[in-house]
Amino acid sequence: MRAVDLIAKKRDGLPLAAEEIQWFIQAYTRGDVPDYQAAAFLMAVFIRGMSREETVNLTLAMAHSGDVLDLSDITDYAVDKHSSGGVGDKTTLVVLPLVASCGVPVAKMSGRGLGFSGGTLDKLESIAGYNVHLSNEDFRRLARQTGIVLSGQSHDLAPADGKLYALRDVTATVPCLPLIASSIMSKKIAAGANGIVLDVKVGRGAFMTNLDDARALAQIMVDIGTDAGRDMIAVLSDMNQPLGAAVGNALEMAEAITTLKGDGPADFREHCLVLAGYMLRLYGRGRQWTDESQIRQTLVEHLNDGRALAKFRQLVEAQGGDVRLVDDPALLPKASIVETYHAAQDGYIAQVAAEEIGMASFDLGAGREKKGDPVDLAVGLEVHVKVGDRVTAGAPLVTIHANDRQRVTACRSRLERAFAYSQTPVEPLPLFYGTLYGGRPTGS
Ligand code: URA
Repeated sequence: MRAVDLIAKKRDGLPLAAEEIQWFIQAYTRGDVPDYQAAAFLMAVFIRGMSREETVNLTLAMAHSGDVLDLSDITDYAVDKHSSGGVGDKTTLVVLPLVASCGVPVAKMSGRGLGFSGGTLDKLESIAGYNVHLSNEDFRRLARQTGIVLSGQSHDLAPADGKLYALRDVTATVPCLPLIASSIMSKKIAAGANGIVLDVKVGRGAFMTNLDDARALAQIMVDIGTDAGRDMIAVLSDMNQPLGAAVGNALEMAEAITTLKGDGPADFREHCLVLAGYMLRLYGRGRQWTDESQIRQTLVEHLNDGRALAKFRQLVEAQGGDVRLVDDPALLPKASIVETYHAAQDGYIAQVAAEEIGMASFDLGAGREKKGDPVDLAVGLEVHVKVGDRVTAGAPLVTIHANDRQRVTACRSRLERAFAYSQTPVEPLPLFYGTLYGGRPTGS
């Protein structure tokens, strides 16, 4: 086969066969197809699109371009979750220990933040000593011993995606549904999941800003997973305003711990209960965990009676973290400047623009512009209001945690743009816009 022929075929809108896609991905991963041909291929896909069958074949080819984890010695059914990323999204920190506390093993690899979107690994590193770099052996050993492991990518998973993603970034081919969907799903499949819960964010602070695009992306990913023999649940969740109150690494860690102690912001707690519930439902097929109300009751109990927190403590200890910070989150990294941003006027909150809040936190130093940049773990924001809340002029809307006065000035002007007020009542935003299913997600 020749790369040029496959590029021409896609350019002319003809479908590519499984073997052709496989050949192209393997040759590109080996370095036998150069970047300029892969770039042309990506642009042809961007313009012509891909059928469901082609997208599945592309996903599987990328998933098998490196190691594929086999977790069968740890569990007979591995559940995983993936979030498309947002502002204040610290869900994994709560959902993983919550699910593991129910006896369901979870072995997850997470990523770092980029731009205003946070990453679980950065949040975890606000716990001194926590090791996100585990060897393959340690990853498996911890999963077996404690039933929970949460690390960075320690395996050579889906290397084709790593190469293609970097190329998409510089060839204007990132916003393309089959390419996004195959990129995300190839990593989930390579990570050994049997059942996958996808949290597809939609709104101003998300990759997908409108519901139709988010639904289309979720549907393609559910279809890919289903065709690849996985059980799938995808939720469409709101990202017009931040999730919970805390935005910024150590602040989000503190909020996650508060939530694991049975408290925490109502929206975030509910979000975690729903996602954890779906993970248990996937795991439950044919066993326990099929009755929705029983699942919910168990999860609430585990948040309220300390079992989820105990699991989190066990995770932190096993990965070398200082558990004193779990027992007393006041010991987490702290910013030197703490000040309040106040409401400019009376009224109902009509907007808490997630992307502006994310950028305000980024301005303080909580995020990174490019891969490898350092982040300030201590800085960020606590947002005390939600869309629909009634406030009076001068009410505290945000607590700013900063380490640099100049950055506070930049942050404050972002916050000016983040909030809007209405003189008439405003409907609160929903947490979720819908759920999609694929495979055998309900225990049938
Ligand atoms: N996240 C990914 O992993 N891949 C994409 O293409 C987009 C978001």
